[in-house]
Amino acid sequence: MLTRDARGVVFGGVPLGNLFGDGPTTTPAYVYDLDAMEAEARALAQGFGERPHLIAYAVKANSAGPVVRALARGGAGAEVVSGAELAVALGCGIAPDRVLYSGVGKLAGEIDRALGAGDRGILAIQMESVEEIARIEARAAALGRRARVSFRINPGIEADTHAHVATGHDEAKFGVARADLPAAWEALAQAPHLDLVGLSCHVGSQLTQTGEYLAAAEVLLTIAVARQAAGARLELLDFGGGFGIDYGAGCPVKPADFARAGRALLDASPLAAATLVVEPGRSLVAAHGVLCASVISAKRSLEGDRRWLVIDAGMNDLIRPALYAARHRIEPLDRAPLATAPGYRVVGPVCESSDDFGEHPFEAVPERVVIRDTGAYGFTMASEYNGRALPAEVFLRGGRVDSISASPGVDAWIKKRLGTV
Ligand code: LLP
Repeated sequence: MLTRDARGVVFGGVPLGNLFGDGPTTTPAYVYDLDAMEAEARALAQGFGERPHLIAYAVKANSAGPVVRALARGGAGAEVVSGAELAVALGCGIAPDRVLYSGVGKLAGEIDRALGAGDRGILAIQMESVEEIARIEARAAALGRRARVSFRINPGIEADTHAHVATGHDEAKFGVARADLPAAWEALAQAPHLDLVGLSCHVGSQLTQTGEYLAAAEVLLTIAVARQAAGARLELLDFGGGFGIDYGAGCPVKPADFARAGRALLDASPLAAATLVVEPGRSLVAAHGVLCASVISAKRSLEGDRRWLVIDAGMNDLIRPALYAARHRIEPLDRAPLATAPGYRVVGPVCESSDDFGEHPFEAVPERVVIRDTGAYGFTMASEYNGRALPAEVFLRGGRVDSISASPGVDAWIKKRLGTV
């Protein structure tokens, strides 16, 4: 939790100002509250009551080992979209039978990794096309393994969210369209190494109401009930992730509301015995991470009396504002924010006009700022654009610094580009 006292911003029980200057790290740095993430997973689990369920944490949101381990302690499994994410999930102690693997472009080596995990592979490889059936069948046959598979269904539902994060509409590349299902069932019948264990869907991210989520779940259930009647034995119904959070402008629903709604739907269906799976990423971690940056300069222009606060974090560290027009609250790290203070446009050093975090009030020019709600899709989307080093990551636990992953620094980048390593 982020609070303020005389020491400035206190996050996860640690005054953030202590981390910098003479402290153990440098800016820009992501700081994560591991205890809060673990508690978030437990709170979501409450929404399922007694029903068999699996919270498959979408590792893409934040793949840092300490984060994945914290969520695993909170009872989460994992949803991964690459062989590398799969290796991190397994390496963090998540059992293979609690891991789902999605993605429209799985490589043979990645499929092999999923099939080879544990005694019988992972919980399910989520197939996103009819074409994937033959690819996975070929790998399973080559390895002499059976493959537990599910279909990600494209429910044809338009989610009310940013176009870049809507995935459940007809034109999206994701999932098997309803029109293609007859071909999918037919191809599956020709794949002797594949066992269909579930169906899934995911309509989009940062959903701030349960309506579209449930509409997609209903489409999925209707398909599942028909499939069960045709002889399938479905163990899993996966309604996806996408639970929205409050970035400062409000969010009327809590993650557990999605859990409760999904549970009510499944409980009342002929598939009530199936495990209900959800795939949340953002809602478990976003609010429990901040990006700390130092102010490089306060630039003013007489032209229109414009003011910019140039900070040492840029769009390469946090791309969400540039990519989705996302707004993250930015506050001074050491002084109280003042809503009536004159605004500064907070910008990074990157040579792009979109390297702009929006206008924010500041009472005076601060030494450092904190960019809130950046625990999800922050570091995992960071790049080295403009010859910039990836940021540091600080992991807090029990009210103290548990570990730090230092920035590799620009010298590593220089060597790499010169081709000397
Ligand atoms: N499951 C699937 C199949 C997904 O594609 C995603 C997200 C999730 C689960 C997790 O969704 P979440 O609960 O985190 O909303 N970079 C964007 C979000 C991209 C989401 C991609 N897929 C952002 O920063 O808003």
